[in-house]
Amino acid sequence: MIILDRLEPLRALVDRELDAFLPGETERPEAVHRAMRYSSLARGKRLRPILAILTARIFRGETEEIAPVAAAIELIHSYSLIHDDLPCMDDDDLRRGVPTCHKAFGEAVAVLAGDALLTCAFEMILANGRKHGFSAEALLSVISELSRAAGSRGMIAGQIEDIQSEGKEIDPDLLRYIHHHKTGCLFTASVRVGAILAGAGEKGLDDVSRFGDIFGQAFQITDDILDVEGDSAVTGKPQGSDQQKAKATYPRLFTLEKSKQMAREQVDEAAAILAPYAPASDDLIALVRYLPDRTS
Ligand code: IPE
Ligand code: IPE
Ligand code: MG
Ligand code: MG
Ligand code: MG
Repeated sequence: MIILDRLEPLRALVDRELDAFLPGETERPEAVHRAMRYSSLARGKRLRPILAILTARIFRGETEEIAPVAAAIELIHSYSLIHDDLPCMDDDDLRRGVPTCHKAFGEAVAVLAGDALLTCAFEMILANGRKHGFSAEALLSVISELSRAAGSRGMIAGQIEDIQSEGKEIDPDLLRYIHHHKTGCLFTASVRVGAILAGAGEKGLDDVSRFGDIFGQAFQITDDILDVEGDSAVTGKPQGSDQQKAKATYPRLFTLEKSKQMAREQVDEAAAILAPYAPASDDLIALVRYLPDRTS
């Protein structure tokens, strides 16, 4: 069975947590709440919460109970997608197989729904974290990780340099900077959140952090590859969007073949980091190994 099929119950669990926490569509302001639910509940892979849950398993056996907190990471991710698609950013019309948030609801609602999802994530971490008995100290660490990863030293840094690099000559260092920040930081924070909630020590945290960062890099390289040769019906996103805007991507700088090779090398490196934790790390290793073959 391919790893995504095996992880389907976790994906569904994350969806149930999101559905339960997000404000209802009939609650005022209806337009913003409809847009928040539309974008975050649309069919996505839920990889970041799943990574948190799988990472927690390394340190604490059965860990589905961290799902009510881990699912909140998906709200930060969904906000980032709504804003990433805006006309002033990547200006894309299709996301998760449906019209982007601003296409469906207009720009003002999309901006505000994104803002509201980001703040809702922190509300969800505290509300669910306290309800499920996590310590205040652990929840503060989780908030610290995620706020930093999403902020101007993390994802925002990558997003602005991505935009400012459009149409320009780029070098490998800048490309790595962009990918590390715009994508790697939230992946790293996701695995760290899982480890923190499971009570991991320093060494464990260090190891999963290195894994998360490389996972994020490999993930974004394969995202760039899918923009070139993916099928929009499967990715749920417009194909060729990066090429149209001359974005800073691996295929543009290194060719498609070399990009694929680099992704495979990173996958091996990431898998090696978690090999000593087998069999508890088996699913995480299977997940990173699936990246070069992913079609969505
Ligand atoms: C898309 O992320 C944005 C990137 C960081 C490349 P995903 O490919 O995880 O998107 P969903 O959540 O499955 O829609
Ligand atoms: C987006 O990278 C990363 C974030 C949303 C932070 P991309 O712009 O490549 O993502 P897609 O391809 O639109 O999903
Ligand atoms: Mg972008
Ligand atoms: Mg984009
Ligand atoms: Mg992309």
